[in-house]
Amino acid sequence: MGATGALGSLIATELRDRGAVVLGAGRHGPDVVCDLRDVDAGHAVVRGALGTQGRLDGVVNAAGIVAFGDLVGTDPVVVEELFLVNALGPLWLAQAVLPTLAERRGFFANISGVVAEQSLANMVPYCASKAAVSHAMPGLRREARRSGVHVLDARPPHTETGLAGRAIAGTAPTFPQGLDPAAVARRIVEAIVADEAELASGAFG
Ligand SMILES: NC(=O)c1ccc[n+]([C@@H]2O[C@H](COP(=O)([O-])OP(=O)(O)OC[C@H]3O[C@@H](n4cnc5c(N)ncnc54)[C@H](OP(=O)(O)O)[C@@H]3O)[C@@H](O)[C@H]2O)c1
Repeated sequence: MGATGALGSLIATELRDRGAVVLGAGRHGPDVVCDLRDVDAGHAVVRGALGTQGRLDGVVNAAGIVAFGDLVGTDPVVVEELFLVNALGPLWLAQAVLPTLAERRGFFANISGVVAEQSLANMVPYCASKAAVSHAMPGLRREARRSGVHVLDARPPHTETGLAGRAIAGTAPTFPQGLDPAAVARRIVEAIVADEAELASGAFG
């Protein structure tokens, strides 16, 4: 999910380089067209994978949106949108794909972000939505262990993907130089392969 994005496309490339067949999902596909705000998005992913490959070994959620500005001045619809895409959507996705992933003892990896570890001014709903989904992952990992599915929460620091320039509201502050997106994608795939429980922001070097 989020296959058209900077990190999503790099993670797909990294997985393909290691021999995986990767289907890209998201609002603009390319392989499965679905919207994370839709409770049925995960079912579309399952149908797409089973229909073309006959199996689903893993799901990476690299979709997300950001907004800037103080909370009081932020349109409530923007707050709702942040939680829909960054928190509710990933949980609905996990609900839909986990039973099928269990058949292959597969993996579910979600990118939350460093903001799950620290709440920043002018990014309050973004930070809160990421903290919500990040907080869900250790519990989900314990639930999924029974069926052999590995769950990963990845919390990369600021990365030079251009995400801040695509904010759905507000204007980004000037950030210090971020990490190299290819290095972040590689580190996330390494963690998937090694079944690391989490990738805290400090684990990105
Ligand atoms: N860049 C950073 O500094 C950084 C740091 C930590 C964590 N992260 C997180 O890493 C993830 C990837 O970010 P990125 O930097 O690669 O940003 P990006 O290039 O803007 O990618 C975001 C992706 O999310 C997809 N998306 C947005 N809304 C969606 C929806 N409703 N349904 C399905 N897909 C949707 C976009 O696809 P379409 O627009 O085509 O639908 C795009 O593929 C995000 O969750 C972000 O919060 C980023």
